[in-house]
Amino acid sequence: MNDHSGKSISVWMATASLPLFSSLTKNEHANVCIVGAGISGLTAAYLLCHEGKSVIVLDDGPIVSGETERTTAHLTTVLEDRYYELAWLHGEEGARLLAESHAAAIDTIERIVIEEGIDCDFERLDGYLFTSPGESNAILEWELEAAKRAGLNNAEIVARAPLESFDTGRALRFPRQAQFHPLKYLAGIAKSIIRDGGRIYTQTHATKVDGGETASILTQDGFLVTADFVIVATNTPVNDLLAIHTKQAAYRTFVIGASVPMDLVHKALYWDTSDPYHYIRLAKDLLIVGGEDHKTGQADDTEARYLRLEQWARTRFPMITEIKFRWSGQVMRPIDGIAFIGHNPMDKKNLYIVTGDSGNGITYGTIAGLLLTDLIQGRENAWAALYEPSRKTIRALKRFVQENFNVALTYKDWITQGNLEKDALVPIGTGAILRRGLFKIAVYHDESGKMYECSAVCPHLGGIVAWNHSEETWDCPCHGSRFDKIGKVLNGPAINNLQKI
Ligand SMILES: Cc1cc2nc3c(=O)[nH]c(=O)nc-3n(C[C@H](O)[C@H](O)[C@H](O)COP(=O)(O)OP(=O)(O)OC[C@H]3O[C@@H](n4cnc5c(N)ncnc54)[C@H](O)[C@@H]3O)c2cc1C
Ligand code: FES
Repeated sequence: MNDHSGKSISVWMATASLPLFSSLTKNEHANVCIVGAGISGLTAAYLLCHEGKSVIVLDDGPIVSGETERTTAHLTTVLEDRYYELAWLHGEEGARLLAESHAAAIDTIERIVIEEGIDCDFERLDGYLFTSPGESNAILEWELEAAKRAGLNNAEIVARAPLESFDTGRALRFPRQAQFHPLKYLAGIAKSIIRDGGRIYTQTHATKVDGGETASILTQDGFLVTADFVIVATNTPVNDLLAIHTKQAAYRTFVIGASVPMDLVHKALYWDTSDPYHYIRLAKDLLIVGGEDHKTGQADDTEARYLRLEQWARTRFPMITEIKFRWSGQVMRPIDGIAFIGHNPMDKKNLYIVTGDSGNGITYGTIAGLLLTDLIQGRENAWAALYEPSRKTIRALKRFVQENFNVALTYKDWITQGNLEKDALVPIGTGAILRRGLFKIAVYHDESGKMYECSAVCPHLGGIVAWNHSEETWDCPCHGSRFDKIGKVLNGPAINNLQKI
């Protein structure tokens, strides 16, 4: 079990071990300090160390204990949003740069795997995009045209995806996609960082991040790291109050891993165009199927979602047997469909962020490593304007209004009743929100009968958290902050714990 991220455990945690590091015990200085040791932070650290920079990486869990541990690790140029939509939002050149940067990310991972000799099951394979029942096949025609204009010239329409048990109907085939074991890859990256002089500290929570000529990071234990540059790679920036969080939304997404006899399912990446969409791949004798997303903190029906995923998979892949894994994780969806990588808007200089990477964060994390290394080294990068975090995408205005109206509505929880009236009614092993006068309290009742009480007010911007029965966490419906059962912060943007009562 990985207590850092929540309750469920992914197949990767069960099948690989990561190197362990100690926590920071004194003030230190480096050229670059990176907060967050997931794919984004570790890739940037690896590339910067390779160029001779001194680098410190801080993480408040073990390394790779955030969303990277929960990924399904499709390495693809096929993004969550369609290229015809992305071209409408960002122009044809924007779509071309997007495709180019994701292809470069996959190439970079492949190159590192070879150069460093990392044994991580990396392999190239095809990807297939198909429509869901009731959807027009015209989507595939539009997407094929847009993908070709974006430079994905090898894409083609085929009669169906190569799945015997599941007639997908016409599908778009994208060659030269890839998959790997993310933890084995990052274990190799972490070792190379140390070899190249990098310093990695875990169990080290950053409580304050400041940019400027001399940037600084203060840790919960009172130590200070100073640096010429800081990269906040915490999946959602913990240093940013508002600028970015009005432009992206947090979603929970769910995955099952089902045993499947070897060689009965053709090895490839598969996606449908439902909303939310299904994503499928194989890892040896395991069929990994994901989907059923919902906005964080705005639903608590995880069991039903896992069951629907299982039914969906069993109908199409009747050869699957036992469901061996079930896990969930969080993705940050930007309103205009692409990640934010670059200088943190309205902040001091030398402070960079990477966020908004949707279900494509393994490639975006790698793009961030490449792009931020160039920015820190003072080099031009053709992708910089596209990923600029302060960009305003006029054509995404409707989505901006919808998402922020949804956030505004969640503040009604300040005036509603609690889930229950008294602490004593909170069932053992669960949590509930209680109202006490003007205040809302998050109460967790542990297995031994002990009650833990925190303020239910999220320290980010005052949303009221909700209990997530499946992960046993408190989730904020506003911008996706999450806290463990006794109120310790797990996911930003909150940087602090729920206040103890
Ligand atoms: C179920 C699921 C399936 C996915 N499938 C795919 C896929 O197939 N392909 C793909 O490309 N992407 C996929 N993604 C997205 C991708 O996995 C993520 O976007 C990516 O892993 C994010 O990496 P990251 O390094 O930015 O963040 P994380 O991996 O979340 O790393 C952030 C780190 O920051 C640390 N941290 C946070 N706050 C602090 C603090 N205050 N102080 C110190 N440390 C802190 C955390 O402990 C964590 O280790 C999926 C995501 C999920 C959840
Ligand atoms: S995450 Fe923004 S208010 Fe909770």
